[in-house]
Amino acid sequence: MDQLLRVGHPTAADSRRPAGLGRFGEYGGRFVPESLVPDCEEVERAFIEAWADPLFRAELHHVLSIYVGRPTPLTPAARLSAELGINLLLKREDLTHTGSHKINNVLGQALLARRMGKRRLIAETGAGQHGVATATAAALLGMEATVFMGERDTERQQLNVFRMRMLGAEVVPVTSGSRTLKDACSEALRHWVTAVEDSYYCLGSAMGPHPYPWMVRQFQRVIGDEARTQCASALSAGTPDFVVACVGGGSNAAGTFAGFVDTPARLVGVEAAGGAAINAGSTGVLHGFRSKVLQDEHGQISEAHSIAPGLDYPGVGPEHAYLADLGRASYVTVDDAEVVAATHRLARTEGILCALESAHAVAWVIRAAGDGTIPPGSTVMLTLSGRGDKDMSTLMELS
Ligand SMILES: Cc1ncc(COP(=O)(O)O)c(C=O)c1O
Repeated sequence: MDQLLRVGHPTAADSRRPAGLGRFGEYGGRFVPESLVPDCEEVERAFIEAWADPLFRAELHHVLSIYVGRPTPLTPAARLSAELGINLLLKREDLTHTGSHKINNVLGQALLARRMGKRRLIAETGAGQHGVATATAAALLGMEATVFMGERDTERQQLNVFRMRMLGAEVVPVTSGSRTLKDACSEALRHWVTAVEDSYYCLGSAMGPHPYPWMVRQFQRVIGDEARTQCASALSAGTPDFVVACVGGGSNAAGTFAGFVDTPARLVGVEAAGGAAINAGSTGVLHGFRSKVLQDEHGQISEAHSIAPGLDYPGVGPEHAYLADLGRASYVTVDDAEVVAATHRLARTEGILCALESAHAVAWVIRAAGDGTIPPGSTVMLTLSGRGDKDMSTLMELS
């Protein structure tokens, strides 16, 4: 195991860049087998160089614009706003190519992998959206892709499994443990150890060993940066009162919050009640990083549960644990029933079928506007992380 360096306790303003070995306060770090340390270091070096290289940034910007369709719109949710007595704006990551924010991070990492001379991408996926994005980027750049997915998720997200295979990726069902995202992550990390020579681990959220939590947030900050500019022209106050996003591993929320962390906006991350690492977890180590995790008194990782496979994870990215400790962001939970109701309500009021993950954020806004936590007349910027096609079979079964 790599030694973790304790390098002081940065303030909220420093939360943009982790200290030492990727430390966000006491969280983060790099807890990986010795054999993976040089590979994490190689990724870190490559990312620092690439991120400072105007040519890399220009190529990423170009592909995000002509292939992904960025900037995504900021849509006023007029009818739902009227019902709730607030001004709700939706950052439409559901309108990206492949249908979720995952593509922003994947294209960044895939371009990085190509720059590093790798020919194959390895990924884990829960909802299948990160897997689809990885398969898409591999096809676009002429690379191979292998995606690990819990067997249970392959059953509830069959559409995405088919999409990945259509795009030429190998999908490996993982049969261990709870057969969900946690087990897919473990298997992808195990596989990376054996294939590191020619393969790049394209991690799908703002978690994992350093530099992934930081790098993924930097690739996702395009959401927050765009939304900040869009809010500046849409709102007389310039910034919204609340900025809300769902939190699984935490990438769409981290990217969204990055654009608003230095404003007075209240940042709210919404966890699944059954996967609430910040609200119900304690400090521990999982998948190469220290953060809040769901665990029993012996440190055994507990199983998460959520109707949304992308939030069905017992940990959370280290930056969120840190922002929670600082009090800069608050983290709340909603349950499956509220999520299903919110999905239907958004569909009927706005004509948008969102992903069950994204509906967590919508559900909290509905509840908080109802009980006054969000005062009447407030402006709320909500990141709608993905579209709901993948969840139609789950919703069909429920109805
Ligand atoms: C549409 C969508 N939103 C949110 C998430 C949660 O991931 P993160 O917390 O990294 O944004 C997922 C994960 O699969 C997803 O597919």
